[in-house]
Amino acid sequence: MFKMGIAGTGSYVPETRLTNGDLEKIMDTSNEWIMTRTGIAERRITTEEEATSDLAYHASLSALHDAGLQPEDIDFILVATVTPDHPFPSVANQLQHRLGCRSILSLDVSAACAGFLAIVDIADKYIRSGAFRHGLIIGADTLSKMTDYTHRSSSILFSDGAGAWVVSREKPDSSKGLLYSTIQSDGEHFTSLYVPGGGSRYPNPERAGVKNKIYMDGRKIFKMAIQSMSSSIHQTLEATSHTMEDIDWLVPHQANERIIDALSRNLGFPDHKVVKTIKYYGNNSAATIPLAFDLSVRNGTLQRGNKILLTSFGGGLVWGSALLAY
Ligand code: UT7
Repeated sequence: MFKMGIAGTGSYVPETRLTNGDLEKIMDTSNEWIMTRTGIAERRITTEEEATSDLAYHASLSALHDAGLQPEDIDFILVATVTPDHPFPSVANQLQHRLGCRSILSLDVSAACAGFLAIVDIADKYIRSGAFRHGLIIGADTLSKMTDYTHRSSSILFSDGAGAWVVSREKPDSSKGLLYSTIQSDGEHFTSLYVPGGGSRYPNPERAGVKNKIYMDGRKIFKMAIQSMSSSIHQTLEATSHTMEDIDWLVPHQANERIIDALSRNLGFPDHKVVKTIKYYGNNSAATIPLAFDLSVRNGTLQRGNKILLTSFGGGLVWGSALLAY
């Protein structure tokens, strides 16, 4: 069996900043409350004209450049998103054309904030089996387009962005590559974090008395996020015979800094080895992990040879972890 390595990374965020000061002007909140409860100072958000595929496109170009590959070298594209430009076709289909790739497999995967880890898991199976040599996997979301800015406890979290990896086949005995990944889901609590309207259940949200905006039971999701990510990390460490001492960096989903801190405390993992980008980028769903990863590669934090643990949790509910020898 081959291994899946990361050949290149890229990311892109829109230029417009939405600061806590901006939010103070449109809702009853304060910079102090948002900073202490979430660790977020500002978020990047798209304009009316920008869509998810635009962010994904720029992140992809950057990852391809980093990998030293051309669009025609890519054998498959997977995009994790819950905010596609259109109900169909997929963002991945649009990227295939816009990047100038061959007629290859291109699909979107819907797993909300855990979406990037879901496509890491799928891509690994495609590459390991020998079916494909190079893949482009992208986490991209424009949550601002479905944020309910009248709901002050959830709207302060959400933002837009994209992160991409070019993943490539590595020899079975390579020291580099994905060592393990796990994704789990439980639909029982799906209404704790979802968009009620706008899909086929309530295609006319106003008539049905629901919103086509994100609803979140913050306190419930907060607790479940910490429990689920902790147990998924324990499962990953056990399956690979690793302990937290073997891990160089933890790159968790950036939902709320208090969740990240509680998670590392639970795991007994030192705070200085945890990658946090939430302060300036907020929670952009499937983009948080590849965005944080790319920014940390570019500033020299994550280095080749590091053992890196990834973990995420979000709507579905879906959660997972992955361990990587970078
Ligand atoms: O990425 C996908 C997964 N998502 C998550 O993991 C997010 C999980 N949840 C959270 O991050 C947190 O629950 C929130 C940031 C959403 C909310 O923080 P919290 O500490 O759970 O606050 P809360 O909703 O329990 O509200 C506490 C108090 C309330 O006032 P009372 O009832 O105690 O008087 C709220 O009305 O804070 C008030 N409040 C605010 N005050 C100022 C809620 N939002 C705000 C606000 N500004 N923006």
